Amino acid sequence: MTRKSTVEEIKNRFDNDVERFSVLQTGQSSTVDAPLTLEIISAGAAAHHPNATAILDVGCGAGNYTLKLLEKLPNVQTIDLIDLSRPMLDRAAERISAVSTASVTTHQTDMRELDLGANKFDVITAAATLHHLRTDEQWEMMFTKFYNALKPGGSFWVSDLMTHDIPAVQDILWGKYGDYLSDLKDEAYRDHVFDYVGKEDTPKPLSYQLRLLDKVGFSQAEILHKNTVFGAYVGIK
Ligand SMILES: C[S@@+](CC[C@H](N)C(=O)[O-])C[C@H]1O[C@@H](n2cnc3c(N)ncnc32)[C@H](O)[C@@H]1O
Repeated sequence: MTRKSTVEEIKNRFDNDVERFSVLQTGQSSTVDAPLTLEIISAGAAAHHPNATAILDVGCGAGNYTLKLLEKLPNVQTIDLIDLSRPMLDRAAERISAVSTASVTTHQTDMRELDLGANKFDVITAAATLHHLRTDEQWEMMFTKFYNALKPGGSFWVSDLMTHDIPAVQDILWGKYGDYLSDLKDEAYRDHVFDYVGKEDTPKPLSYQLRLLDKVGFSQAEILHKNTVFGAYVGIK
């Protein structure tokens, strides 16, 4: 395996990409079906918890997921935002404060380093960020922390880049993703995205993540969406 980006390298890349991630359609154009997934997750979380008061957005970027949730959840009182990048957190807090009186706490840290507490959140979202976790131990530790941090009945909503265990399936779907990127811009853009994914990301299969939900104690899980190498799911505590 080639050397993967360090936490500092990932932080520096996102520090310089705040503008792009402040508009969902442009920030996430390299993600297949990003607007649809955002809509499904925000609508699903709001329908499951119409009276949610406490939410946590992990790897929040410029806050798109929290902003969309707030459109549908009028009773939110506390919002916790975690991101490596201070400029991302500042932008997210500014955008959220413009539309909500909820108390916003920003945590500039590697998600692996933060104590998330117990029985605190109705809703946790993690969009396009868990693929930065590296080892099985880290994945299990984070899923355990998310489970513990949720209130009973709370929910954990994920959308992300995903791999596939069966090599033929991975090859076909990765090729389809390449076609998507070439059609979106051109082959140079495809190669640029493939280059930073190769350097920076260590995604896991959807099946792996669903098994891990079960292993750490989530009582229910649903697949919300899957298209080429992107997927979304929810786990209920
Ligand atoms: C692709 S952006 C997605 C932002 C946002 N969730 C969205 O969907 O618009 C990924 C974000 O995860 C953050 N991130 C990456 N690794 C992280 C880590 N280990 N701990 C906390 N945040 C991390 C990056 O700084 C970046 O802002």
